[in-house]
Amino acid sequence: MIVRIITIFPSFFASCLGEGLLGKAAERGVVEVQFDDLRGHANDAHHTVDDAPYGGGPGMVMKVDVWDRAIAAARQAAPGARVVLLTPQGDRFDDAAAVRLARESGLVLCCGRYEGVDERVAEHLVDECLSIGDYVLTGGEAAALVVLDAVARKLPGVVGRAESVETDTFTAGLKFPQYTRPPTYRGWDTPAALRSGDHARIAAWRQAEARRRTAHRRPDLAPLAAAKNVRLVLLERAMDEAIRDPQSAIAACATRAVDAYRLARLVVCVPDADTRQVLRNAHLYDVRIVASLAQLLARAKHETVIHLADQPGPGQLPLAEIKRIIAAAPAGITLTWGGVAPTGAHVAAPALPDLADHPLALAAWLDRLFGV
Ligand SMILES: C[S@@+](CC[C@H](N)C(=O)[O-])C[C@H]1O[C@@H](n2cnc3c(N)ncnc32)[C@H](O)[C@@H]1O
Repeated sequence: MIVRIITIFPSFFASCLGEGLLGKAAERGVVEVQFDDLRGHANDAHHTVDDAPYGGGPGMVMKVDVWDRAIAAARQAAPGARVVLLTPQGDRFDDAAAVRLARESGLVLCCGRYEGVDERVAEHLVDECLSIGDYVLTGGEAAALVVLDAVARKLPGVVGRAESVETDTFTAGLKFPQYTRPPTYRGWDTPAALRSGDHARIAAWRQAEARRRTAHRRPDLAPLAAAKNVRLVLLERAMDEAIRDPQSAIAACATRAVDAYRLARLVVCVPDADTRQVLRNAHLYDVRIVASLAQLLARAKHETVIHLADQPGPGQLPLAEIKRIIAAAPAGITLTWGGVAPTGAHVAAPALPDLADHPLALAAWLDRLFGV
C-alpha cells in the first residue's frame, strides 16, 4: 500500500517510521510511505501556504489553491488512492475505519496546520475527512501517524500472527485480559482457567471476560458494536417529507438516530441544487448533503448497502438475515430509507408490515437492529 503524506513538516515522521512494526512494514515494502512537502506547491518565492481568514479572526488558514495542486500531484503519483483530510471536524477514525482504509490500494493523508484548511478542500478536493478524537492537535501530522499505524496493523504481514489483529479490542468489544508467568506475584493470582490447559474452558473464560469488561467499561460498545460503522441515508422521498415538515417524525427520528444508536453519519440525498444550497446554508449539524445516492456510493467501494423497505415486496429479507449481513459485512454499511432501493442492495422487509409507509417504521427498524 502506498501512503502519501502531504505536510509542511515531513521530518516529523522520521523517527517513528524507522521503529517497530511500522518500520519493518516499510522495510519490507508492505507500506511505502511517501512525503510531499506542501510548500513545494506554493507559487511564490516565499513558499506561502497560508493566508489571513476572510471575516477576520486569529491565526492563518491554509490556502485552497496550494492544496489543490498538492492533491492533484498525489492523485497522479498514487492513482486510485483515497484522499483523506485530517481534521477534528471529520468523521471519527476508529477500528472499522482502519479496516476499511486498509482495503484501499493507497492513501493520501493531508495534514493541516495553523487555524486549519480552507473549507473548499474538504468540500471539493478530498474523498473524506477524518478526526482521531475529540480534541484539537496543533497539526494533522500526529493524526496522520495514528491513522497510518492503525491501518498498517490491518495489512496482512505487518503483525506476525493475523489472529492477534482479529481478536484485538474493538473488533468485537474489548479484548479479554491477558496474563503471563509467574502464576502468582505478590499474592496476585492469575485465573486458574487460563492455566488449566483445557482449551474449551479457556475459550469460554475469555469470551465471558471480554463480554463482562465490555459491558462494564464500554457499555457503548456492547449492544451497539455492529452499528459503529453504519451510516443512514435518507433518499428523496424521505427528504421531501423532512424538508416539508422539519418537525416530522421522520426528520426527528433520523437526526436522533445518529446519536442514539451511534451511527457513523446521517446523509441526505437532495437532487435539487437550490434545495441543497438552502440546506448547506442552514449548516445542519453533522448531516452530509449529496445530490444522489450514486454519487455517495461511487466513493464507497466496499460498503454493504441495505435498503430498509417501508412497503412489503418480493425478495425482501427478514430481520435475522439482515442482522447476519451487518455482522458479517467486511467494511462499512450504508442503510437507505425512503425511496427506491439502490441496485445491488440487500432489501430488508418492513419492520412494521402493518404500518407500511409510516415514519415510525424507520424508528422501529433502527431500534430492532441497534437498540439495546
Ligand atoms: C489547530 S488545528 C485546527 C483546528 C480548527 N481551528 C478547529 O477548531 O476545527 C490544525 C490542524 O490539526 C489537525 N488536527 C487537529 N486536531 C485533529 C484531530 N482531532 N483529528 C485530526 N486532525 C486534527 C488538522 O489537520 C487541523 O487542520
